[in-house]
Amino acid sequence: MQRTHLCAKVRENLIGQEVSVCGWCNSYRDHGGVVFIDLRDSSGLVQLVCDSTSTPQAYEIAQSVRDEFVLLARGKVRARGEGLENPKLETGKIEILIDTLTIENRAKTPPIIVNDENISDELKLKYRYLDLRSPKAFSIFKTRSDITMSGRNSLQKMGFLEVETPILTKQTPEGARDYLVPSRIHDGEFYALPQSPQLFKQLLMISGFDRYFQIAKCFRDEDLRSDRQPEFTQIDVEMSFCDENDVMSVCENLLADIFGALNLPIQTPFIKIPYSQAMEKYGSDKPDLRFELPLIEVGDLFVDSSNEIFASIAKDTHKNRFKALCVKGGDNFYSRKMLSEAEEFVRKFGAKGLAYIQIKDEPKGPLVKFISQENLASLLERVGAQQGDIIFFGAGDKKSIWDYMGRLRTKVAKDMGLINEEEFKFAWVVDFPMFERDENGAISALHHPFTMPKNLSSQSIEQYKSGSSDIEEIESIAYDVVLNGVELGGGSLRIHKNDMQQAVFDLLGISLEEAKEKFGFLLEALQYGAPPHGGFAIGLDRLTMLITRSSSIRDVIAFPKTQKAACPLTSAPSVVGEELLRELHIRLRNPQKNSLQ
Ligand code: AMO
Repeated sequence: MQRTHLCAKVRENLIGQEVSVCGWCNSYRDHGGVVFIDLRDSSGLVQLVCDSTSTPQAYEIAQSVRDEFVLLARGKVRARGEGLENPKLETGKIEILIDTLTIENRAKTPPIIVNDENISDELKLKYRYLDLRSPKAFSIFKTRSDITMSGRNSLQKMGFLEVETPILTKQTPEGARDYLVPSRIHDGEFYALPQSPQLFKQLLMISGFDRYFQIAKCFRDEDLRSDRQPEFTQIDVEMSFCDENDVMSVCENLLADIFGALNLPIQTPFIKIPYSQAMEKYGSDKPDLRFELPLIEVGDLFVDSSNEIFASIAKDTHKNRFKALCVKGGDNFYSRKMLSEAEEFVRKFGAKGLAYIQIKDEPKGPLVKFISQENLASLLERVGAQQGDIIFFGAGDKKSIWDYMGRLRTKVAKDMGLINEEEFKFAWVVDFPMFERDENGAISALHHPFTMPKNLSSQSIEQYKSGSSDIEEIESIAYDVVLNGVELGGGSLRIHKNDMQQAVFDLLGISLEEAKEKFGFLLEALQYGAPPHGGFAIGLDRLTMLITRSSSIRDVIAFPKTQKAACPLTSAPSVVGEELLRELHIRLRNPQKNSLQ
């Protein structure tokens, strides 16, 4: 039987015509004399009717149909009877009266119900091929494919060349742990799977390829979250003889083309926010700009506070911050219970409590008694507080305050329904610090060590090395593209001169030997005429997730991993036999765990 139409394409215009459809039985109802089957394919559902009087043969077969049987059906399209239309279905005005029905394949009772939202994640992933049968899943992957296609076309139109780079490679420097692959031929040696094609794309610029892109698989062994997977895809781009504005324009054009192809016009250029401003105003380097709710510094008004702790925090403006978040109408909105929930929320991110002032006839709240009347009046004016508002406060170490007040800002916006879910709000965050220092004082590159520092001379390098200038003050020519509070992509201009690259390794405390061992090939390549270059990478999964409004990155990856980086479908990772291990020169530390021993 030749299929004439996809299920959801059978509409009123075909009434009276013969059609052939194929798919899976989504559900069936036997009404004694008539069997109704909802047939499903990738496009959606259509109702089949098998009637014992007009089509007895089809009726006979239909009686033995069960969920997920594979069916081929031919019949005549007709309008549904009065009152029997289903407005929830695209094909809800019609049905097909079947004269020929074939059961092409039977199915065991499925372990999950397709389209059921309430299945456990583990089961969903174990039977992902059934989970993917839902038209909703299909539509996500259609969008993903459209994004990839339009992205490719856009980059090709802008003169970029698609080049594949190795998967079996050497450690790459994106800051996560590597996935390693043991070498059989080289005893005791390992390949690393690429965390990104960073070094290869730079080498391609040294090769003179000028404009490169790749839809690149990347692998990072890091803690997983709702927007992170161990294996993910980037739209990876690099270009030569450019400055940062050229690179950002390419990225904006690419995103405009992708969104345009999906009939979602967006405005370019995107606004640019310096990193320091993003942290001060939104407490995040990936601010959600669909709502305002700025964090406002009020430390100066607490310098004379009768509370010694507040006063001492407020005095050290280099180390600390004292932020206020004024929520319009928040006093009426936040009940006592919600206030303690908000406090619990910030405690999870290191806050010791959550101080607030409620703006009633008189301002009320735990903080009021620690501030003079005059300063209180200035505070209310500065944050624009009015009757019915609530002001939340966070005071202490700046990194901690930015973090939990930034998260509180987003929580408040969600609680109060301030977010327009239809909107796409892009921004560039620019002027990132080049280095960051962890709690133990260890220095690392905020992006990666190939990022071009801003205004770094050989003289200033010496000052940073000697500690007479603070290394955290060095900025880099790096930029992140942020969409609706999610880091969608990032990039930078790269160091293209060997001496600068060595200096940066030096500042990072990477010795010459270590640098040579890890990235010697790049350092060498930089000595053979490297052009100025820069690029970026966009997370394809995150982009698809935001466009399809999916709540988890797993929804947009065909066969994703669990929170514990496992695949319940294939049972990867799995133990391997002793023989294979021996071939790979591996002896396990914990052999009893290996049940194939
Ligand atoms: P970066 O590390 O910022 O930059 O990665 C770029 C984008 O890739 C996505 N991404 C992820 N998506 C899903 N799961 C993950 N574990 C994950 N990690 C990153 C994000 C992120 O913004 N080589 C540089 C780019 C460059 O400088 O050109 C890089 O990889 O959307």
